[in-house]
Amino acid sequence: MSGAGAGTLLAGRVVLVAGAHGGLGSEAAKACARAGATVVLLGRKVPRLNRIHDAIAAGGGRALLYPLDLEGAGADDYAEMAQRIGDELGRLDGVLHCAAEFKGLTPLLHTDPADFARVLHVGVTARWWLTQACLPLLAESDAASVVFAIDDLALTGQAFWGAYGLAQQAMAALVPMLQAELGDAGPRISGFQPGPMRTALRGRAFMADQDRDARDPAVYAPACVELLSPAGAAWRGRTMVASPEPRPA
Ligand SMILES: NC(=O)c1ccc[n+]([C@@H]2O[C@H](COP(=O)([O-])OP(=O)(O)OC[C@H]3O[C@@H](n4cnc5c(N)ncnc54)[C@H](OP(=O)(O)O)[C@@H]3O)[C@@H](O)[C@H]2O)c1
Repeated sequence: MSGAGAGTLLAGRVVLVAGAHGGLGSEAAKACARAGATVVLLGRKVPRLNRIHDAIAAGGGRALLYPLDLEGAGADDYAEMAQRIGDELGRLDGVLHCAAEFKGLTPLLHTDPADFARVLHVGVTARWWLTQACLPLLAESDAASVVFAIDDLALTGQAFWGAYGLAQQAMAALVPMLQAELGDAGPRISGFQPGPMRTALRGRAFMADQDRDARDPAVYAPACVELLSPAGAAWRGRTMVASPEPRPA
């Protein structure tokens, strides 16, 4: 989407970003704040969350920290989180899922069993538990949106992508399944598949100096804002596959 009008797309709205100190999460969180949202920053490292908070505040935006490790959090923790957002901010309009665990390319046969479970938990179960706890509050919004960041299904469905690859397939299945259950009038559920981005996650599969396709995650932040806002209505129950702007020659 163009930058025109992006400054008010989320005015007065409250958006939760999970994985808010990651590559895409941090850029999306800052973009949401620039678009007028109060942003709840969920992540497991407080100093890094603080840096995103300070960048948003310096730009005149508003953000709150919600430190939480998705690996250890249970359904009660998400229920408490939703309750606190409702009590303190009075509403929740959007959730953007950018948290993901990826340990690097590994043959399934040699994958540490605990790592396999951990990656699936953060990539699938925790995303769903968080969403499930937030849906009642989201349902009170006039334009609620839940957006799941999803990696390239063809790429990550190949050998050695392991539990991370399986989690992407699960997320792609969850989007239309959940939307069908919530119906046309319920909160909007979308997937977002950005192109390759220069982030810590990508760096575990590709050598940075040979990864010419990867772009700054900031390139994809405006699409996250669009999907979280009423402007993303066309993506109800669907996944937006975004391609980067052409590179300057
Ligand atoms: N990079 C790409 O090329 C690419 C392409 C397509 C889609 N995506 C998707 O985009 C999303 C964001 O990925 P990214 O590239 O921005 O990766 P990233 O920079 O590694 O960010 C992932 C974030 O998830 C957080 N996280 C991991 N485990 C967590 C836990 N247990 N509790 C709380 N937070 C946890 C990480 O925190 P720590 O820093 O503490 O580990 C990090 O902040 C992911 O869903 C990914 O699948 C990425």
